[in-house]
Amino acid sequence: MVKPVTVLLAVLFLGAGISLTASAADTVDVYKSPYCGCCEKWFKHLQQAGFPVRTHDVVDIPAARQRLGMPDRLGSCHTAKVAGYVVEGHVPVADIQRLLKEKPKALGIVVPSMSPGSPGMESSKPVPYNTLLVQSGGETSIFAKH
Ligand code: CU
Ligand code: CU
Repeated sequence: MVKPVTVLLAVLFLGAGISLTASAADTVDVYKSPYCGCCEKWFKHLQQAGFPVRTHDVVDIPAARQRLGMPDRLGSCHTAKVAGYVVEGHVPVADIQRLLKEKPKALGIVVPSMSPGSPGMESSKPVPYNTLLVQSGGETSIFAKH
C-alpha cells in the first residue's frame, strides 16, 4: 500500500526534474494580446516541447512587431523572440528547434497571417502553409513546408 504522501513527493520530484530539463532550453519571450486565445494555445505548444515561455501582454501588437524588426506584411497575431531570433505567428515548434540548431543568418522565421491547421490554430479544415525565413531587409525564402 503506497501512502498518498509518497505519491505526492514522487509527483513533486518528477515536476522538478521536468523544469530542470526545460531550463536548458532558450527562453521564448512572447508578445501577445491579452484577448487572444490562439496565442495562448501556441505558447502552450512550445511549453509542451520544453521551452520556458515568458509572456508579455501588449495592446499594440504591430508596434511590438515593428520594434523587433518584423515587417508588417508578414504579421500574425503574436510575435516572439528567442535566442536573438524573431518568431512571428503560429510557427511549429519543430521549426524553432531547427532554427536554433542551424543558426542561419536571418532576422527570424514567420508563419504569416493565421493559417488554419498550424499549432494553436487547430482546424477541421487545415490548409497547407509555409514557414518563411526572413532577412533583416525583409526578404523571405521558404524555410519549411507544412
Ligand atoms: Cu493566432
Ligand atoms: Cu496569437
